[in-house]
Amino acid sequence: MAARATATFLPVLSLLLLRAGADDNSAFVYAGCSQGRYDAGTQYESGVDSVLTSLANSAPYAPYANITSPSALPPVAGLYQCRSDLPASVCTGCVRSAISRLSSLCSWSAGGAVQLRSCFVRYGNDSFVGKPNTAVLFKKCGGSPGDAGGAAMRDSALGGLASSVAPAGGGYRAGGAGGVQAMSQCVGDLDAKACSDCVSAAAAQLKAGCGYASAGEVYLGKCYARFWSNGGGFVSGASSGNGYGFGPRMNGERLALAVGGFFASLAYFSVLLV
Ligand SMILES: *[C@@H]1O[C@H](CO)[C@@H](O)[C@H](O)[C@H]1NC(C)=O
Ligand SMILES: *[C@@H]1O[C@H](CO)[C@@H](O)[C@H](O)[C@H]1NC(C)=O
Repeated sequence: MAARATATFLPVLSLLLLRAGADDNSAFVYAGCSQGRYDAGTQYESGVDSVLTSLANSAPYAPYANITSPSALPPVAGLYQCRSDLPASVCTGCVRSAISRLSSLCSWSAGGAVQLRSCFVRYGNDSFVGKPNTAVLFKKCGGSPGDAGGAAMRDSALGGLASSVAPAGGGYRAGGAGGVQAMSQCVGDLDAKACSDCVSAAAAQLKAGCGYASAGEVYLGKCYARFWSNGGGFVSGASSGNGYGFGPRMNGERLALAVGGFFASLAYFSVLLV
């Protein structure tokens, strides 16, 4: 119920954030916390602290890392994934910001996840490391309405992502078709095949769910994909400010996703920036 009430504010908040800084690497996208909680002074608490600290310390050296703390039973595991085309300094700043948000949004939660614009961090005792996950966690479409030609370019750009081979060292893929750009990023615990499967599932969500919208993004359990018009032929009308507004139809869709997705099935609930 709390998730349903807060989710209605999500479009407004996200729009404000996008207006405040569309290129802000640490801009908030979504977060979720487990309903199970741990007590102060337990092994679990020191396990969470040590996992999050190790993740922060790894970020300058690699765009992906996973850590397991053996001191807690069951062990606490954690991972982060930065957009792997970005410099280490951006990754480090993003991961630190994500951990600080997790600590405040999910304090005392046995598990938690946060997605910022350029990185994802998750911890918990539910054995999620190394497992594919294509559940939809968060989705939005926006921009001014386009047309069938734009949608065809979008489908082509997204199809290119799904079929391309990720470069070594990270699951980042980028491409375009006509006036539409697209990118995707997998979490580093997926192998190439699982990454392609995840990106295909993300692309299918955007194709099926974004109509003629000129921008969209979808976040699955282990990957995400985005597309946007670069202004060439896709956007037919005047855009609202930064060209990334939200139609009223999306509000209902996002509400449903916020309460019904993977977080709900794993006893997680979505939380919002406050
Ligand atoms: C994870 O930790 C929480 C808090 O200690 C506990 O309630 C939950 O049962 C644990 N989950 C598993 C799978 O052991
Ligand atoms: C987790 O990290 C260890 C140590 O860096 C690495 O060897 C292993 O492949 C990683 N596992 C996954 C599933 O990413």
